[in-house]
Amino acid sequence: SRDSDEVALGPTGGPSWRTSKVAIVGAGAVGSTMAYATLMRGSARTVALYDINKAKVEAEALDLGHGIQFMPMAEVVGSNDIAVCADADVVVVTAGAKQKPGQTRIDLAEATISLIRKVLPPLVEVAPNAVYVLVTNPVDIVTYAALKISGLSSTQMFGSGTVLDSSRLRYLIAQHTGVAVQNVHAYIAGEHGDTELPLWSSASIGSVPLLEWNGIAGRGPLTSEVRDRIAREVVESAYRIIEGKGATNYAVGLAGSRIIEAVLKDEKRILPVSSLLHDYHGVSDVCLSVPAIVGARGVGDRLEVPMSADELAGLRRSAETLRAAARRFGL
Ligand code: LAC
Repeated sequence: SRDSDEVALGPTGGPSWRTSKVAIVGAGAVGSTMAYATLMRGSARTVALYDINKAKVEAEALDLGHGIQFMPMAEVVGSNDIAVCADADVVVVTAGAKQKPGQTRIDLAEATISLIRKVLPPLVEVAPNAVYVLVTNPVDIVTYAALKISGLSSTQMFGSGTVLDSSRLRYLIAQHTGVAVQNVHAYIAGEHGDTELPLWSSASIGSVPLLEWNGIAGRGPLTSEVRDRIAREVVESAYRIIEGKGATNYAVGLAGSRIIEAVLKDEKRILPVSSLLHDYHGVSDVCLSVPAIVGARGVGDRLEVPMSADELAGLRRSAETLRAAARRFGL
């Protein structure tokens, strides 16, 4: 039998994912779906949900707990006491104002930053060594604010960024080409918002550069008209879904669970998360998304992806938009 105080250590010397804990702050549509997706993937041994609404968070945890028989073994807890997040290995912050039809994500900044100011300090107190993933919108500005408020390093704290937008981009490319989405390698960079941009010049389908793709099975190449349409549809996705059902939750919940897994299993996965940049293609002192290595310690190297002149200009425009918004909110 194992010594009772033996702790299974993961590859980085931290707790292995077998004893790992994720705390999700906010038991709304996004947080609860993220908890569900994380449980379904068997990414964590303990999933803790925190929300100020006691009835809601307890009900979500109970409903999820009733399904554990059908998922990989895990424990689910939910409370309006922040102690439920204690000693988490990953803390994901989803709580915040909901984007209303026609509202931009940056419109939510004021309300969300004051919520972050309130919730972060007690969180960091109970889970000082956790990797922090901000999901709350406007996620790039919220991540930048959270770094300043918490004093945590820009390795330990980052945002979900355009992981979701990149999955939308890949979905649309797969729809057009008839190829499995898992074989489409393409990233959205910049703001998780209206100024985001597809990195077409470095995208590939299988091992074929996307811009050299001639099409298969009667499906055509990705002409500039097709690429422009796809880029527009990626930006418009959230607005369209919010118009129809009031919020987005499945894909963002899955994107969050993918990030959680990359941290808890120390995967060194390449993901376009939103992190504080220092002279990235000349862009500094702003949080936005570029492909980066995500593992047990948080976000590591940002990949210096080769970019066309247009892509570089788009990245800098996105950075300027976010810096201007950050200044507007006194960050
Ligand atoms: C979306 C929200 C998560 O893009 O910003 O669906």
